[in-house]
Formats: sequence, structure tokens, C-alpha cells
Amino acid sequence: MEKFYITTPIYYPSDKLHIGHSYCTVATDTMARYKRLRGYDVMFLTGTDEHGQKLERIAKGQGLTPKEYIDKVVIGIKELWKTLDISYDKFIRTTDDYHVKTVQRIFKRLYDQGDIYKSTYEGWYCTPCESFFTEHQLVDGKCPDCGREVEKVKEESYFFRLSKYQDRIIKYMEENPEFLQPNTRQNEMINNFLKPGLEDLAVSRTSFQWGIPVEFDPGHVVYVWVDALSNYISALGYDTENDSLFQKYWPADVHVVGKEIVRFHSIIWPAMLMALDLPLPKQIFGHGWLVINGGKMSKSVGNVVDPNVLVEKYGVDAIRYFLLREIAFGQDGNFNNEALIQRINSDLANDLGNLVSRTVGMIQKYFDGTLPETQEPTEFDGDLVETARNVVPKVEAAMDKMMFSDALIELWNLIRRTNKYIDETQPWILIKEESKHAMLANALYHVAESIRIISVLLQPFMPNTPALIWKQLGIENGAWDSAKEWGKLPKTLSVQKGNVIFPRIDMKKELEELEAAIKASQATSIANQDKKEEKEEKAEISIDDFFKVQLKVGEIIASEKVKKSDKLLRNEVKIGDEVRVIFSGISKWYTPEEMVGKKVVVAYNLKPRKMMGEMSYGMLLCADDGADKLSLLTLDKDIPSGADIS
Ligand code: MSP
Repeated sequence: MEKFYITTPIYYPSDKLHIGHSYCTVATDTMARYKRLRGYDVMFLTGTDEHGQKLERIAKGQGLTPKEYIDKVVIGIKELWKTLDISYDKFIRTTDDYHVKTVQRIFKRLYDQGDIYKSTYEGWYCTPCESFFTEHQLVDGKCPDCGREVEKVKEESYFFRLSKYQDRIIKYMEENPEFLQPNTRQNEMINNFLKPGLEDLAVSRTSFQWGIPVEFDPGHVVYVWVDALSNYISALGYDTENDSLFQKYWPADVHVVGKEIVRFHSIIWPAMLMALDLPLPKQIFGHGWLVINGGKMSKSVGNVVDPNVLVEKYGVDAIRYFLLREIAFGQDGNFNNEALIQRINSDLANDLGNLVSRTVGMIQKYFDGTLPETQEPTEFDGDLVETARNVVPKVEAAMDKMMFSDALIELWNLIRRTNKYIDETQPWILIKEESKHAMLANALYHVAESIRIISVLLQPFMPNTPALIWKQLGIENGAWDSAKEWGKLPKTLSVQKGNVIFPRIDMKKELEELEAAIKASQATSIANQDKKEEKEEKAEISIDDFFKVQLKVGEIIASEKVKKSDKLLRNEVKIGDEVRVIFSGISKWYTPEEMVGKKVVVAYNLKPRKMMGEMSYGMLLCADDGADKLSLLTLDKDIPSGADIS
């Protein structure tokens, strides 16, 4: 069986995902379903990208550890994929142990073979995008990708020899025009990034901790994009004892990604794979954005649309249909409530829903639910059968290029042609004359058979509607190839009337309701955000909670700078009769000499943790103005070390 490996990007669990994220996943899911129907052995991977400074900060702001915060968000993400009927085969989290280990091995291997080296990084960092930029890459001093403020960073860093792979990547792209799709993205990458010259990439950070530690240099964490991109192979067990999935599925057939992350996937990822001596994915498909009034949907603008609100109102199949039909994959598309309702009414209720219900209704009414054996052709049959026969290769051709919208246009041509056939044959006239009943039976058979073919082809796009149609037509399932054959339904077909599959909705009333529902969900999400921020500042705790923290007076008897770190001091602190080692990230504000002799406040019952290869037993309390001032808390009277603070 031929294999097909398809991936979505792994999502940042920084907040609830919106309809823009869902767009990417729905499209990938549609492709995975299509390939399964075509008989491929499919591996569909999705997951979450859980490291980086941004998440560390958000979690801290909410008084949680990054993992505690992320665990909660990931539950919501998985629920959303369930709501949208996303049929992924594997969900990877970059905090999964196996992934962490694989990334560490990859990093070490690249270091050992000289593709990674140590130096100093000086430049600009955009935290929301988790991206480094050189001075000349900034636009008006801001991040060239998202337009937000960037931070100046100077730190010791490991570098990946990206520049070494530049020519090979250009050559690869030129020789494999299918590699980066749509084609325009390839020109953009070659002309804007590759030809001007690649610089080596900083691939470790020391200024925060929430990342995969570089095993042989624990003050460093692996750059989040190196960590994230590796998910596509770590998920398959690459470089482990059990790498059978990797052997079977790699290289990926397609990585589906949004246009703003094409750069990482078509330059950094291929270079990493080249360095690892692995084959490149067969294709990177960079889709466009869902925009609202021309701007990208985003939480900070406050214009996000919650997919749950839409699914609750119109059902998952209608939403999936709208996303896939309305926007040409690869281009940006406007999300618009009116267009959504319009599509539901015209394409789903009128064209498809009405076709099914009136056909089943007529078979019921004219023949008591079962067509008679005696049937006579009509002059319109040939054209309908021809249209149905042609639609399958057209849908397949569009799908093979990931042109979901084109595939649906082809399918709707058949739906409309079938509706037209009803108008041409006029069953309501044929029923009036006994001698025309054989022709009527044939006409209704043709319509039902066409509906069967339509329902088979609808499966990748709409996971639920086909089964509703089959129930009414009395069939069990729809193998893809059965759409290629005309006449699979029994001549004496028996139908069973069911509910209307897509009821028509009142545009004006619905539009008002939908706008109100979206606004309400946006308001709740902003209110929740405000609440969280408020909690951060003012959250109350009980006295019992407060007393869980044991504070004691400590006297610093020795202090030294930690060699591998530009922030840490290693202090020896006398607390009563014992002496503890406590690391503190304050070397920017205090020299070791200034530290010695100070009486300080120690968080005494903190769980010990490993820092720079040694255990640290507690924490020294400091006041921090959030900008650039920091002061150790000391005592203004002479109290012996070891005294309790309460
Ligand atoms: N974590 C990285 C991806 C790492 S892959 C190794 C990331 N995450 S993300 O959560 O910010 O975005 C995930 C995907 O959602 C991206 O492909 C992005 O383009 C897509 N979308 C986010 N907003 C979108 C729209 N408004 N419209 C369409 N897709 C959008 O990037």
C-alpha cells in the first residue's frame, strides 16, 4: 500500500485557537481523508509547540508553571479538533519525553559533526514570533513578520551553519519546482532570502529556561524552531530503537503551513535535514490567511472568530465546507458572516439539501418509497451520466493539487446539473400520465444515482453529511471508486425519508444573531483575559497558604560568578547551623564581593532544583522594578541567621 505522510504545523498553545488556525487543520484533514479514501496508508500528524520565552512569560503572568498552563490549553485544542472532526493519527507535544530526547540527540550530532558551533549572538529578537533578526532585517526598527517591538539580545549562543546550505537549497528548489507550493512562494524565498545570502542561525538561548536543554551545556536551551521542526521526524521515532514509522513514512509527502512560516519550513528545515543526511519532504504547501477586513485575524486585534460558536450554530460540515470552498487554498481569503450564511443557504440548503429531500420525497410520494423495476430512458439521461462520469477525474485532479475550492466547484457542477435534470424531466408532469410512469421511475433513479456519486465524493470535505444521505438512500458506505461507476444503486431502490440535511436560514435574522454571538464570544475572551491579568496583580491567598512558605534569615558567607552563565552567582548561605548553596540570577546587579556579609531573606522550603549541574537549595528574595533595577531584600537590624521571618 502506498503511504502518505501529511502534517499541520504544531500550534502554539498560547491561547484558544481561532477559526484561522482551524482553517489550516481542516484543510489538512480533508487531504488526509481524501488519501485514505484513495487507498493510501495515511499518517496525519498534528500537535503543539510548547517551548519558548513567550509561553514562559504567559504562564508566569498567570502564576503557573509553563507545563501547568500548557496542559490546560492543550485539552482545549484537542477538544476543538474533535469538534471539527479532525482525524489525526498522532498528536505530538514538544514537551513529550521522546521528542525532547530526539532533539537533544539531533543537536549533539550536529555539534559533533561541526554544523553547530559556539559563538556570541548580538541582534534582535521578536518574542511573539520566536525569531531572531539582524539590524538590517528589521522594518522601521520592528519585527519584519508581525510589526511588533523587538528586543535587543546579546548572549553566548550556539550557531547552526545555515549559510553552508544556501546553494544546495537554491539548487534543490530550482530542480524540484513541486517542492514549494504555490509556485509564487518559491520565487519569494529564492529572491528575498536565499539569494541575498543566509547568515548562520543562532540555535540556542541562555536568557530563559523554558526550552529543551542542550545536554552538554545546560545553561543553553535549544532554539524553539529547531525544536519545533524536529517534531516531523521525532514523532515517527527517528533515531530511536523503534524507528519503523520513520522508515515507513519519511520523507513527508506534504507539510501544510501558513505563509508566514514558509521561510522556516523551506530554508531552515531543509538545511537541518541536509545536515542530518536525510531526504527532504516532497512538498511544503504554504496556504494563505483568513483575514477580516483585510487584516489577519488575531487575538491582539480582538477580531478572532471562535470556531465553536460557528459549529454550534451551523454544524461542523457547513463550516468545513465554507472554509474550503470560499477561499482558494494558497491565497488569502476574507472571513465574512454574510458570505457564510449565503453559502449555507445557496450551496448547502438550496443546491444539495433540497436535491436530496425532494428526490427522496418524490420517490416516497410517487412510488411509496420503492422504485418499480420497469423503467424507460429519457432524452436527458445521457448528459447527466456524462457529467457524473467526468466529475470524478476532475475532483481528483483538483485534490491532487490541494485545490479544495476547485474540487468543490466541480462537485457542485454535478449537483446543479442534477437539479437541472429534475427541471428538465419534470417528474410532477410525468406522474400525471400512467404511460409516463416508467420514464418517471427512470428519472428518479438517475437523480438518486447521481446523489449517491455526489455523496461519495463529499466524504473528504464533510465527515457527517454523506452518512445522512446514505441512510435515506438505504446504502451502507461509499468506497471512493464506486463513484466512478454509474448504476451501483439497485434499480428497485427503496428510500427512507429523513430530516432536511441543511435547513434554509433567514439571512437578516441570522446575520444579527451570528454577529451578536461572535461579539459575545470576543467579549468573553477579552473579559477572561482581563480577569487573568487582574488576578495576577491582586489574587488573594489565605493566611494558611501564606504560611506554607517558610522564610528565614540567611547570611551570605561566600559568593562567586558562575563561569558558564552571565547571570548567575553561586552563593553559600549560612542559615542557623547549616550552610546552603543557593544560585541567584543577580550578577548584573551585585558583584560576589558585595554579596558576602549581607543578611538576606531566604525562601527556605522551596524544592531544591538543579542549576548549572549543581543543586540549589532555596531562593534569595529580591525586589524588581520590572525594568532594570533590582535590590536584594536585607534586614535593617541585626538578627541572627536562621531566624524565622513571618
Ligand atoms: N508553532 C509554529 C509552527 C511550528 S511548525 C514546526 C506556529 N504556530 S501558530 O499557532 O502560530 O500557527 C499555526 C498555524 O496556524 C500556522 O500555519 C499559521 O499560519 C496558521 N494560522 C494562524 N492564524 C491564521 C489565519 N488567520 N489564517 C490562516 N492560518 C492562520 O506558527
